[in-house]
Amino acid sequence: MTRIKDKNVLITGAGSGIGRIMGRLALERGARKVIVWDLNERNIAATLEAYAAPQRTAAYRVDVSDPQQLSDTYARSVAECGEIDILINCAGIVTGNKTFEQQTFGEIRRTMDVNATAPMLLTRLALPGMLARNEGHVCNIASAAGMISNPRMSVYVASKWSVIGWSDSLRIELQEARSRVRVTTVAPYYIDTGMFRGVQSPLVPILDPEKTARRILRAIERNRNFRGIPWGFHLIRLAQGLLPTSWFDRIIGHWAGIYHAMDHFTGRN
Ligand SMILES: NC(=O)c1ccc[n+]([C@@H]2O[C@H](COP(=O)([O-])OP(=O)(O)OC[C@H]3O[C@@H](n4cnc5c(N)ncnc54)[C@H](O)[C@@H]3O)[C@@H](O)[C@H]2O)c1
Repeated sequence: MTRIKDKNVLITGAGSGIGRIMGRLALERGARKVIVWDLNERNIAATLEAYAAPQRTAAYRVDVSDPQQLSDTYARSVAECGEIDILINCAGIVTGNKTFEQQTFGEIRRTMDVNATAPMLLTRLALPGMLARNEGHVCNIASAAGMISNPRMSVYVASKWSVIGWSDSLRIELQEARSRVRVTTVAPYYIDTGMFRGVQSPLVPILDPEKTARRILRAIERNRNFRGIPWGFHLIRLAQGLLPTSWFDRIIGHWAGIYHAMDHFTGRN
């Protein structure tokens, strides 16, 4: 079990969506401090207002894609709030409804920097302290897009496949070293937060943000290695292994509508 009570919980991207909800739930579970990291000042202000717990919250405006800001803000957070017990890498972006050749160099690099590289760098900063205390938990929010290839979101998909591969490898390293530092990798399907506004999913229901955030915190508390949401997504790998690609494309991609979910995507402005 990972106990959230009396722990310092740092959440990147806590200015919005499931990150903000997970922060509130951590406060409800008695976290000592919830440390909000976000790029967007208005989102940060709205989050702090929603939490209404000034003694138990701290907030930092930071662009997690900038390694220098990451290091400086981490040092400030630890100096002002104490060691980080639970780190949730949740900040993420997606660029447009674009085929790969429509993506600019800048969009490709930024998507990889925010979604894939930042969780690694931030974990690299937090891990030595956790290892020294032989206690701590890192939760990385990947996506079902990290398990299924998908047209018109190839770079986002690449970033999330990357998160899953790195995060689960780290989990194995720590287990082999018999460390008590835990890693939970989470792969949710589309969630109704606005990040994927316009997405259509005829067969698999789009997830409720509150319920999804609760499931993620429960996965952390129960030291789950990997949590697909909904649970049925754990079967995706089985289907990928068993079915020829052309069958998988037809059944999961076209029949279940996964490959056309992005057709009407608008996202956030
Ligand atoms: N919404 C979905 O359908 C969905 C599905 C699966 C996985 N996810 C993943 O879950 C996570 C949270 O998604 P959400 O729907 O709550 O998103 P959201 O857009 O509501 O929140 C993301 C937050 O990250 C912040 N952020 C973006 N770039 C940043 C940067 N460079 N530095 C610091 N903060 C930055 C934004 O300001 C925002 O507050 C993301 O990693 C996303 O990829 C989302």
